Amino acid sequence: ATRVLTGITTSGTPHLGNYAGAIRPAIAASRRPGVQSFYFLADYHALIKCQEPARVQRSTLEIAASWLACGLDPDRVWFYRQSDIPEITELTWLLSCVAGKGILNRAHAYKAAVDRNVEAGEDPDAGVTAGLFMYPVLMAADILMFKAESVPVGRDQVQHIEMARDFAARFNHLYGEHFVLPEAAIEENVATLPGLDGRKMSKSYDNTIPLFAPPAELKKLVFSVLTDSRAPGERKDTEGSALFQLYQAFATPEETAEFAGAFAAGIAWGEAKQALYERLEAELAPLREKYEALMARPGEIEDILRAGAAKARALATPFLAELRAAVGLRDLR
Ligand code: TYM
Repeated sequence: ATRVLTGITTSGTPHLGNYAGAIRPAIAASRRPGVQSFYFLADYHALIKCQEPARVQRSTLEIAASWLACGLDPDRVWFYRQSDIPEITELTWLLSCVAGKGILNRAHAYKAAVDRNVEAGEDPDAGVTAGLFMYPVLMAADILMFKAESVPVGRDQVQHIEMARDFAARFNHLYGEHFVLPEAAIEENVATLPGLDGRKMSKSYDNTIPLFAPPAELKKLVFSVLTDSRAPGERKDTEGSALFQLYQAFATPEETAEFAGAFAAGIAWGEAKQALYERLEAELAPLREKYEALMARPGEIEDILRAGAAKARALATPFLAELRAAVGLRDLR
């Protein structure tokens, strides 16, 4: 069977980018025959940028409920909270001893923080934690622990998966073939879903559309998507249009072609926004209902996560014992 694995950081409310870039394709993949799926809540990763315990807990619940509402079948997949698998942190250490520091220096998130500091005339590492620097090693441990071959993610995560391959190859070279080398799986038409301002939709840009915003809020947000100032009747460009890209991620190719035709014919922005809102509402309304029902029963979500953790540890514990023995630590087997 092919192993597919992906995670979402539990530092905020899930948004349309997480859904189109990760949740939706991952659930579709989990239904294919011959696929074993590993989907988890990256709460260790959340601590890197979020030091509010209540927010981490709330986000964990919201993201778990989102996966389940979108159709994830916890009996069919491995669905767990990262921090319920302490073996992942132990593997992080084993990997950090083969991970090149120079490679980590080039990681986008770390480099962006350093560049910002340099630009501001500050110490390059001001406010940068070792956790941020180690982010890709922790992520490699997530992936390598479960021998994932395919990792469905948005384009922003590709570099991390390349790093995981690098660490795995280095470990295998030193200690024998223990790890499978993972590959990123990108969905081309949603690789980067734009946010309200046209930049990548991201918690850190504050430009997100929450996945399960109530209809009135969803509508308000859709109507605030940035457009140019072309008047009704004037031809609109699909190229570079956030509105068009958002529509495309939620429509069939036929609907998208029709929408492109309307752009060429000079559809008014208000009308185009209404069409996007309706498209989103049609797909999300039934899921939102399930989400709200789940959020009202947090105990049930907790039970599902604990069962998932037991199922994941059944694989992680013996594999970690194998790895410990391979590097020369006490053999727990
Ligand atoms: P995170 O929480 O930032 O995002 C979760 C997933 O959503 C995708 N995504 C997007 N896709 C399309 N358009 C967007 N605007 C957009 N914004 C976010 C991300 O690419 C990602 O797939 N480091 C990861 C979590 C993680 C992980 C892992 C992923 C931890 N360990 C192991 C895969 C494998 C992260 O912070 O994703």
